Amino acid sequence: MGNNVNETLQNLRIRYSHSSLDVSDCEKNPGDQMAIWLKDAISGECDEPNAFTLSTCEDNKPRARVVLLKGLREEKLYFFTNYQSSKGNELLSNDSVALTFLWLPLQRQVRVQGRISLASALESDDYFSKRPRGSQMGAIASPQSARVKDRAQLESWFAEAEEKYRGLEKLPRPSNWGGYIITPEYFEFWQGRDNRMHDRICYEIKDGRWEMFRRAP
Ligand SMILES: Cc1cc2nc3c(=O)[nH]c(=O)nc-3n(C[C@H](O)[C@H](O)[C@H](O)COP(=O)(O)O)c2cc1C
Repeated sequence: MGNNVNETLQNLRIRYSHSSLDVSDCEKNPGDQMAIWLKDAISGECDEPNAFTLSTCEDNKPRARVVLLKGLREEKLYFFTNYQSSKGNELLSNDSVALTFLWLPLQRQVRVQGRISLASALESDDYFSKRPRGSQMGAIASPQSARVKDRAQLESWFAEAEEKYRGLEKLPRPSNWGGYIITPEYFEFWQGRDNRMHDRICYEIKDGRWEMFRRAP
């Protein structure tokens, strides 16, 4: 590629012809539709099918990073993180979020917009207890998003945590680590089609009911 990267980028092109999507194909509730597409992604060729880009806002500046979906109940979506991370702080001042799932082998994208709230301590304890011990230890040891001098500093925090809890079978969930719940107000299911005439089927909540409509690609 080298110097020709721009030319290469302009010539990258794939055909979207995997499948199609119409309002009449979709479930009445977007949570049910999401469950179907998640199952397709999990049983398909998609790497990390539960990964999504979480966008937050601070002082009108968008911030985005990838996290993992760990629950879908009704149409509410769950993920877990450090409450004192950058995203945790951004969410304190603005509870509006946008989510983007991308399943390239299926030529699908899902966009969600909604409001965020904390999962209960019980829900967070339950998921924390199911994580591998190494991941639990990492959550205890790492002050997520803080500036760190070097890798050695991180390793020494991890070793300290291991030393502190040596011999203890059940690690305690740190109070600054837990779940968030996204209550969606908008869903969009995007299916790639030929000639860039993609299908976009949307759901918007109006007076507690989901309205469905199509958008132009
Ligand atoms: C595939 C993938 C999955 C990730 N899953 C999570 C996750 O579930 N929770 C989390 O806190 N960070 C996860 N991360 C790391 C985040 O992208 C991010 O680096 C971290 O949460 C700190 O973000 P912040 O500084 O904006 O708070 C994941 C990253 C990748 C690439």
